[in-house]
Amino acid sequence: MYKDSNYHLPVLYREAIETLSIKPNGVYVDCTAGGGGHSSGIIKRLNENGFLLAIDQDPEALLVTRKKLESLRDIKAQYILVQDQFSNIKEILANSNITKIDGLIADLGVSSYQIDTASRGFSFQQDGKLDMRMNPKSKMSAFDFVNNASQEKIAEVLRKYGEEKFANRISSNIVFQRSQKTIRTTYELVQIIKQVMPARSRREQHPAKRTFQAIRIYVNQELAEIEKLLDALPDCMASGGIIDIISFHSLEDRIVKRIFQKWENPCTCPPDFPVCTCNKKPLGKRVNTKGFVASQEEINRNPRSRSARLRVFKMN
Ligand SMILES: C[S@@+](CC[C@H](N)C(=O)[O-])C[C@H]1O[C@@H](n2cnc3c(N)ncnc32)[C@H](O)[C@@H]1O
Repeated sequence: MYKDSNYHLPVLYREAIETLSIKPNGVYVDCTAGGGGHSSGIIKRLNENGFLLAIDQDPEALLVTRKKLESLRDIKAQYILVQDQFSNIKEILANSNITKIDGLIADLGVSSYQIDTASRGFSFQQDGKLDMRMNPKSKMSAFDFVNNASQEKIAEVLRKYGEEKFANRISSNIVFQRSQKTIRTTYELVQIIKQVMPARSRREQHPAKRTFQAIRIYVNQELAEIEKLLDALPDCMASGGIIDIISFHSLEDRIVKRIFQKWENPCTCPPDFPVCTCNKKPLGKRVNTKGFVASQEEINRNPRSRSARLRVFKMN
């Protein structure tokens, strides 16, 4: 069993809270409550007219967030916790009678707790039932994917979401091995990957790292979730509202970067047009075009922050 304090160390905490420029009476959304780290930082800065909505698709994460928020002293603002996917943000806001929000954070991916809990099946370093669902009730688990998808589909997923060079070899071995015996555990999958990985490729990183990342992203539809969230946000934000997105790999970050750029410069006129005729107006501005990365001190304290990048957008 975990202690709440080591459930998950929030990444880029100071940068995220500072860039949100929290208005004490504002309405804030934490799309990825996790262990409640960022939610706590937000709610501490709100007064009795402020409001926090914390979302997570994992019911265990929400239990931890609830305990964490309840343990804070002198909290004046109201808050609610919602178990859902953040791509449903419009419906969640409507059901909570919220019309516009002043700030939102999404700290993407999985929590340390999810990774470190063997029974959730996310880790190639611990043996557990193959699962990898953040929402334990969602339809497809890693077990379903690995044992049922076609070889072509598995190879495509490994290439697309894991940038795995050996996608063909790995997917062929998965299909061969599952014809002998159902693949049930993380360690069985690790063995199947190791059997076909050349020795040289094992020196740089764990041979199963890319495959596990790819399957996790696919099973949880992580990239589609980000796109749907960002698609919905312009209609949800108040004027001057701030969006903070923390991503952990280039596939996620590329989406956030591209969409923020498009919001800042939506003009679709050919570059040689002397004046804009499309009349698409900027939605706001990126706060720091390169985004924020963790300091060496934070990386030493929390190695998971090494690959994190926070991008911030301020609406007009
Ligand atoms: C990196 S952790 C967040 C940690 C949190 N910021 C903290 O300070 O403790 C990511 C959390 O987001 C949740 N999550 C990921 N994708 C989600 C989605 N599409 N909808 C809702 N929750 C999601 C995961 O279940 C996980 O608990």
